[in-house]
Amino acid sequence: MNKSSSESQAEFLERMRKQFDFGPYPRHPIDKAPREDSNELFIHNLATPYYLQHQKTVDTSDKVILDAGCGTGYKALTLAHANPGAKIVGIDLSPHSIDLARQRFAYHDRENNVEFHVLAIEDLPQLGMEFDYINCDEVLYFFDDISRGLAVLRSVLKPTGIIRANLHSLLQRGLYFNAQELFDLMGLMEDDSADLAMPIVIETMKAIKPNTILKQQTWKSFYEDENNENAKEQILANYLLRGDRGYRIKDLFQALQQADLAFLSMVDWRGWNIVDLFQEPGNLPDYLAMGLADSPPEIQLTMYELLHPVHRLLDFWCTHPSSGYSPLPVAEWTLDDWLNSQVTLHPQLRTEVFQKAALEALQQNGPFVISSFLSLPTINPISISYDVAAMLLQLWDGPKPFAVLADFWQRTHPMNLITLEPTTPAAAAQQVADALGKLEVFLYVLPEPIS
Ligand SMILES: C[S@@+](CC[C@H](N)C(=O)[O-])C[C@H]1O[C@@H](n2cnc3c(N)ncnc32)[C@H](O)[C@@H]1O
Repeated sequence: MNKSSSESQAEFLERMRKQFDFGPYPRHPIDKAPREDSNELFIHNLATPYYLQHQKTVDTSDKVILDAGCGTGYKALTLAHANPGAKIVGIDLSPHSIDLARQRFAYHDRENNVEFHVLAIEDLPQLGMEFDYINCDEVLYFFDDISRGLAVLRSVLKPTGIIRANLHSLLQRGLYFNAQELFDLMGLMEDDSADLAMPIVIETMKAIKPNTILKQQTWKSFYEDENNENAKEQILANYLLRGDRGYRIKDLFQALQQADLAFLSMVDWRGWNIVDLFQEPGNLPDYLAMGLADSPPEIQLTMYELLHPVHRLLDFWCTHPSSGYSPLPVAEWTLDDWLNSQVTLHPQLRTEVFQKAALEALQQNGPFVISSFLSLPTINPISISYDVAAMLLQLWDGPKPFAVLADFWQRTHPMNLITLEPTTPAAAAQQVADALGKLEVFLYVLPEPIS
């Protein structure tokens, strides 16, 4: 269901509305709470991209956050949990989805500081509001012109605001685009065929030989259970999704440029590092290593998608073009920079589960697998020693000056265990800087200059 040349914008949006009034998304049960899902909260927390951009923490309590194309409101609820005190605004074309989103917030007692509107993204300026963070998840790929969609979002973004949006990957999702074309040929993608289409897709896929590529690589046996809500959601969101389109990294960068927006980072940035695709990341072929060192993100990401198209989404953060100032990366800080900093634990690690597990590691003098509490920024498990866990617990009540942590370390490590010499303040500070520097890579800790 791409917009046809004879179709007006209003007719196109009406067809989109019908699609999601019939099959609202997502179908998560109303009582499902995002409270425990640290990776989802990490993505939806403004603190994460804000730190990536400014190397500073942010207080979310006075922020205004938009969920553009919020569907049934599960991600809007995640935004509410992840950003304490922020005002949440959800908009969607589909009145049925907005009803369900309102019910979801009422069920979770979150009706304060939230508003929902039946509204097209194209009409966002009508709200007369500006936003600190815009989440536009699983929506942009429906736009006829993605740069136009991004330009509308930009027009309601505060000067320091951040947008998170995503596109379907053309290279990863090829078989589903084949399926959509196939079912279109069979007349199942028409507006009035939505009710009938699902059982026909199931019947057709059941009848196809198991080693046929489309079936072998995409179909799951539970899709054949017509009463399974998850199966319905998967079929509608993949095989029968109208208006779905795939994009390449170069399309994303072109659209950002046309919309006058600057790329900040991939959301799952750790999953897009081309160096990880090599058998010996520390020993790349010379020609490639030299080329990569000078390559901008667009080239490195394109190389990644060509070599290893595993990501369904090109999921990214972007901002207004920067003023030119960029902070010194923490990896390049001197000890003096550290001594003039304060350190915050990422809000998604300030949970009771994390605190309890860190205390247990401490009691047993054992290692502590910190990545089991927040795995998105990692590709392998990350373990820390119990004494580093003890230092992180010092951040439980809030940020601490680095000097306080260095002093804590010196008192808990009074001597060098090999030379039996007393630990000097400088040695303690260096050890803390080394430990925190390793954790900052994953944003587990957020060091920032004391202003
Ligand atoms: C796949 S759902 C995603 C819902 C939600 N963002 C999520 O990720 O859970 C797409 C949603 O975008 C809405 N939508 C599509 N085009 C839109 C537009 N131009 N303006 C507002 N909403 C739109 C649809 O009605 C639908 O609810």
